[in-house]
Amino acid sequence: MINNNHERAQTLVEALPYIQKFTGKVVVIKYGGNAMISEELFDAVIEDMIMLQLVGIHAVLVHGGGPEINDMLSKLGIESKFVNGLRYTDKETMDIVQGVLCGKVNKDLVTKIIHKGGSAIGLCGLDGKLFEAEKMKRDDGEDYGLVGEITKVNPMVVEEAIKDGHIPVVATVAYGTDSDTAYNVNADTAAAKLAIALKAEKFILLTNTRGILREKDDENSLIKSLKADDIPSLVSQGIVAEGMLPKVECCADAIKGGVNRTHILDGRIAHSILIELFTNEGAGTMIC
Ligand code: ARG
Repeated sequence: MINNNHERAQTLVEALPYIQKFTGKVVVIKYGGNAMISEELFDAVIEDMIMLQLVGIHAVLVHGGGPEINDMLSKLGIESKFVNGLRYTDKETMDIVQGVLCGKVNKDLVTKIIHKGGSAIGLCGLDGKLFEAEKMKRDDGEDYGLVGEITKVNPMVVEEAIKDGHIPVVATVAYGTDSDTAYNVNADTAAAKLAIALKAEKFILLTNTRGILREKDDENSLIKSLKADDIPSLVSQGIVAEGMLPKVECCADAIKGGVNRTHILDGRIAHSILIELFTNEGAGTMIC
């Protein structure tokens, strides 16, 4: 028991310099996918957010909601059309994306934070024109409907929410500037751009892998930290590939934009945010 208590105290003492370093700073966390489905993991993410808020770290939660959108579309019997693996977003689908992300997922997160004793406010890219977007144009010449690309971030609404002592919870639906519509935008990209606009200290991506693995499928080969300059070589060696590639690109963009450190964490590990931020070793891959 004595040893056990000593270890617990050590854990807290290890956290001290990080709390001192990060207090008063902004940390943008992108949360979505699998970690959102399990109730236990969901609770752990909320608890981490509240803990950060309590020690004076300004956490901003940016979320997606793919599984919930799929559920709603299938409940309503709306079939999705896919173009090159991307969901074609027609007007009807966009209404559902907006309703589910901004109305349901966003407000559920806000409610949960408040239930657990934190303070939160829900926003989406339409509020205060937080995210401005234009229709996505790809070299393939295909039409993806109302899928947008962010052209500008106006972070004032988020800054005000932070000043007022809230955890901003942000749904990534964007305000269309080239036509009278809302756009569906990639949540990882939106989160990275918001981190840059907020001059965040950290940008954290919660994923469903341990981080960047040197050997595919071998969790013991986790690369714990790397420099943004190492990324091109990891890409050419095929170590960063497939689904990890756009995530790493988001991190690289965030760093280029002035964010100090970015972290790719495993959303399937409860409290991975606290472990990463408040221990020396962390839990995932840190890019700086
Ligand atoms: N806690 C420190 C930080 O947040 C170090 C984290 C180290 N993490 C890692 N994956 N190597 O900056």
